Amino acid sequence: MALGMMLDRLSPQAPDALLALIRLHAADAREDKIDLGVGVYRTEEGGTPVFAAIKAAEQVLVDKQDSKSYLGPEGDVGFVNALMPYIFGRDATMGGRITGMQTPGGTGAVRLALALAAKAGVRRVHMGVPSWPNHAQILADLGMELAPFDHANPDGTANLDAVLAAINSASDAEAVLLHACCHNPTGIDYTADHWAQIAAAFAASGTFPIIDAAYQGLGQGLEEDAAGMRSVLTAVPEAFIAYSCDKNFGQYRDRVGAFYVLAKEQSTLDTAFSNANALARAAWSMPPDHGGAAVRIILRDPDMTKQWLAELDEMRARMRKVRDALAKAGTAGRIDLTPLGTQNGLFAMLPVTKEEVATLREEHGIYMAASGRINIAGLTTGNLPKFIAALSAVAN
Ligand code: LMR
Repeated sequence: MALGMMLDRLSPQAPDALLALIRLHAADAREDKIDLGVGVYRTEEGGTPVFAAIKAAEQVLVDKQDSKSYLGPEGDVGFVNALMPYIFGRDATMGGRITGMQTPGGTGAVRLALALAAKAGVRRVHMGVPSWPNHAQILADLGMELAPFDHANPDGTANLDAVLAAINSASDAEAVLLHACCHNPTGIDYTADHWAQIAAAFAASGTFPIIDAAYQGLGQGLEEDAAGMRSVLTAVPEAFIAYSCDKNFGQYRDRVGAFYVLAKEQSTLDTAFSNANALARAAWSMPPDHGGAAVRIILRDPDMTKQWLAELDEMRARMRKVRDALAKAGTAGRIDLTPLGTQNGLFAMLPVTKEEVATLREEHGIYMAASGRINIAGLTTGNLPKFIAALSAVAN
């Protein structure tokens, strides 16, 4: 090879579209611009402040942490275990059948889940689309095939038949990836009855479930948001769960996640976990500790836990208020906003064209993903009238 030629073999990659929006929005000088792009919670004032509970826990860390020495690929085990009753319920290990490790954010957990599934022979993953774009990117990066099915019906409800068909048709070399709650990007969750049927289908078919739980507590409540996932986990012998604290503890840039394995018996669990450890070691060696340690401190302190729960309640209540206001507005141009009132979490999809998304950005300073996904938390009492007026004008 000629000297200095190797890098010429690479072709340029487009920047991640969602993350590129952050920069575009920041560069816009208009004072009344509205950021409905990347999925971060915002207050009525438009900020994304650090949780008071996190600040308090960080202060404890500053005062009491006596070492930053290595922990190991599994990270802060105290953090991983303290979360488990919130995710899995009172029998937090399901009779000793669940174990977990810390990961760099929810993305790290999804990556680990899919990499471990690949190591166990999974080649193809069924997933409802649209989904979080990074799911498809991770699958592609791991050389796994995506088998898409429609997540939603046109009327804004979940397409139960499609997910059941995927579960029932999956082979031994396939898995099904589901969102636990607050579906990203549609906000359309399965109902309790749907989940019961999904759980029964997993149990009858033997198909392997991978559940991405990135938004627990942002939909209907901490327990409510976990109920569907738990109904699957109690019905199946084995599953993977990818969990994120980046939203429900507001730890976005500190990258706080966890990966859990459910197995039918101790020896399988130990083997799976040893493989997860080896994959984590090869990928990132160990996860960053700070954010997980803060969560551990909160969850071991009743007062801090109370504070965190109150802050989470406030976030959820505000997003519910925005959803109610959108639903009450009825329509904006040709867009029916009423389904948004019953959907959950940070996101909703508007049936707008790419051109309309561009017009909203260029002419009105309203930033959203090209897919038409909006971040509900970017809307406030102050900017909602402008948003509805702009949408009515553009999507007519
Ligand atoms: C989102 O979908 O906006 C978030 O999950 C942030 C991300 O990493 O894409």
